Amino acid sequence: MISIFSGAGGLSFGFTQAGLKPVFGIDINQDACQTYQLNLNSDCYQLDLGDEDQSKVRHLLTPYKKPFAVIGGPPCQGFSTAGSRDWKDPRNRLIFNYFSLVEYLEPRWFLFENVEGLLTSNQGQSIYELVCLFLNLGYSMRLEKINFAAYGLPQSRKRVVLIGNRMEIPFEFPQETYSFQAGKHNSLSLFLPHAPTLIDAISGLPDTSKKDEDLAYQLSPTTEYDVIMRHNNFTGLVRHHFSSPSPLDLERYKLLSQGQTMKDLPEEYWHPSFKRRAFRRVKDGMPTEKRGGAPSGIKRLYPNLCAPTITSAVSREFIHPIEDRPLTLREGARLQSFPDKYNFVGNASSIATQIGNAFPPNVAEIFAKNILYSDGLVGGQSHVNKSMQSKLIGYRLTDANGKSPALCRTEELLQSLVTYSMKEVTTYAI
Ligand SMILES: C[S@@+](CC[C@H](N)C(=O)[O-])C[C@H]1O[C@@H](n2cnc3c(N)ncnc32)[C@H](O)[C@@H]1O
Repeated sequence: MISIFSGAGGLSFGFTQAGLKPVFGIDINQDACQTYQLNLNSDCYQLDLGDEDQSKVRHLLTPYKKPFAVIGGPPCQGFSTAGSRDWKDPRNRLIFNYFSLVEYLEPRWFLFENVEGLLTSNQGQSIYELVCLFLNLGYSMRLEKINFAAYGLPQSRKRVVLIGNRMEIPFEFPQETYSFQAGKHNSLSLFLPHAPTLIDAISGLPDTSKKDEDLAYQLSPTTEYDVIMRHNNFTGLVRHHFSSPSPLDLERYKLLSQGQTMKDLPEEYWHPSFKRRAFRRVKDGMPTEKRGGAPSGIKRLYPNLCAPTITSAVSREFIHPIEDRPLTLREGARLQSFPDKYNFVGNASSIATQIGNAFPPNVAEIFAKNILYSDGLVGGQSHVNKSMQSKLIGYRLTDANGKSPALCRTEELLQSLVTYSMKEVTTYAI
């Protein structure tokens, strides 16, 4: 498989766990490329996929045409141009370039990941046009917004995933096997076990150090998740597990109870940046409180819930549920399901970005196995079907109880593309 916008390789690592071989990664970030090479035993080229001229990239990729899969998640800054339908707009180009590399490489399967904002950007035109492009190319696809906690991640993380194949293979997304509770994102069910919690995920790590050094485990594994994280960590050592808060930060943390955030602290403890952000109006003029409140700055996490979405702020803003310190990078990596043997290249801020950006490997593995299973169902057919009866097999845009007008618009657009059969279409009552 080939990974584009490959980052630290979370998606690729999961695919290797399912048995696929990574042959090529591409990312603009040098540290991410080195992390990828270090852990995946594959080349990873530092290239700008935003360049209009993709001839160099194509030249490098020529020996790898027709791979089993192309996987990747372009970043999403380009989705604010209301009404723009211009794929040449540089802000849309990264998605277009993802598409054009799939067009060039002709994989059997592709997996495309993005943030949920893609569904409503440009009044739904961005996702609609992307799906149209793949349909014209002959891919049969399924599009869903999913919460990775439903696949056993100890973190509520909602993402949009588009998967396609060019053999007309009908397929489903993998079955969701966990219920979860994570603050306002709850999906509890009597019939499904609860996803691992934050404390399940970070238990068993050694005491933190003050600087980045190798630390030995001090305890036997404490939870099932701990066992999985330690698997194949033959050195028995853990890296990126350090924290040295300043005396002022320590005071802040001591005042925070579980579930409390910066705004629960006396104002003299607020970071200047938090003050600015707290009173800022967002670009479209809507006051922050109408958009779910001001950014929380630091927040003390609950031990027995799934973690909130891990971002590049993990080791600055996410405070340990019991100890007076932020989470370490290693704890962030565990919450993203990177095993302890997975090491990252770069300084702390670069590593935090790589971890926050990643597609969780354990979920990637589940999706990869599902793709392999679906592919196998066609009995080893190795050629691409030339009839090109491509389809949008189905979509699921939300599992919430209310659908925004913006999402309704997107649904209308996508519905016009569904050609498989009405029974197959999975839409949720909103
Ligand atoms: C969402 S992350 C991908 C994470 C990755 N799939 C993983 O599982 O770890 C997006 C990646 O796109 C990269 N990127 C952003 N702009 C790029 C560009 N112009 N060319 C190539 N890569 C780019 C970023 O450095 C980042 O690593």
